[in-house]
Amino acid sequence: MSASVTKERPIEQVDESLAAFAADVHADLQKQPRQLQPKYFYDALGSHLFESICHLPWYLITRAERRLLEEHAADMLAPLEDLTTIIELGCGSGAKLALLAEGVRKRARPVLVRLIDISATALDLSERTLGRLPHVSVVGRHEATYDAGLREATQPRPSHGSTLVLFLGSNLGNLRPEVADAFLREVRSALRPGDGFLLGADLVKPEKDLLLAYGDPLGVTAAFNMNLLDRINRELGGDFDLGGFEHQPRWNADASRVESHLVSKRAQTVSVRDADVSVDFAEGESIWTESSYKYTPDNVAEIGAAAGFRRERQWIEPESQFSLTLFVAE
Ligand code: AVI
Repeated sequence: MSASVTKERPIEQVDESLAAFAADVHADLQKQPRQLQPKYFYDALGSHLFESICHLPWYLITRAERRLLEEHAADMLAPLEDLTTIIELGCGSGAKLALLAEGVRKRARPVLVRLIDISATALDLSERTLGRLPHVSVVGRHEATYDAGLREATQPRPSHGSTLVLFLGSNLGNLRPEVADAFLREVRSALRPGDGFLLGADLVKPEKDLLLAYGDPLGVTAAFNMNLLDRINRELGGDFDLGGFEHQPRWNADASRVESHLVSKRAQTVSVRDADVSVDFAEGESIWTESSYKYTPDNVAEIGAAAGFRRERQWIEPESQFSLTLFVAE
């Protein structure tokens, strides 16, 4: 598989997103600690590497969620009256929505689906997966960040029926707590009372399991993280020596998050031509690329309540400690 699965985008849009990427790399590499933003993982190769991570025996989130969706799809949709629309934020391959949609298979009219993802590859994969289902009709494809995509997807909205927003996997975990709070409030403000919000959250578990999940022995997660440096080399004229960095996951218990770092193996200088930046790395200095926050079931209910949702039901996969919570807008 290659970038050829990606639909072509208008040239102005490509220029704009490349300029934003360059501006972020310029600013983030000069921060202390040095950083890069995880949203840039997901070029075509990064999206496929993430799909591979989801198959790894040490990364349990995807399979746990699949089990919950397979078992409880009908219960998850039952509290929503006359469900007409499902909006998925961060749709990945579309496989989860396909499982959930089993709950509407017997209805006369197909449920309308809108997909939001910053990765064109993910949107392509999802459209292909869902396009085969007679009980689903994909009516919107939004290659956008969550908030911009949500605004597009909910305006205008159908005058009747309820909407369900999905924010699955552990996408919530990649948001800093204050950003997660603000984001849930935005989701709530895009919805009407009675609409639903199905939220995935990975739960706190033993450190050794978390470090294996984010530092698998096959090196797929390392490749996923390192691809960001390669992407900067390819798209922004960077000169990162990939052999000069190593992937390192760290559990930060106080902040309840796994941090992904790229640690410089030696003192070195890296320049990124199109981001107009040159950085001196000390040996052992890292670039912090991602945080994956882990929740407790009550934390999840609390952030939902603070945003104006009522917790309708919560399902927890016992082996992997992963949760899905159905909220209803009050
Ligand atoms: C996409 N996101 C929820 C994943 C996570 O678990 O934080 C990304 C990931 N990073 C390393 N492995 C998976």
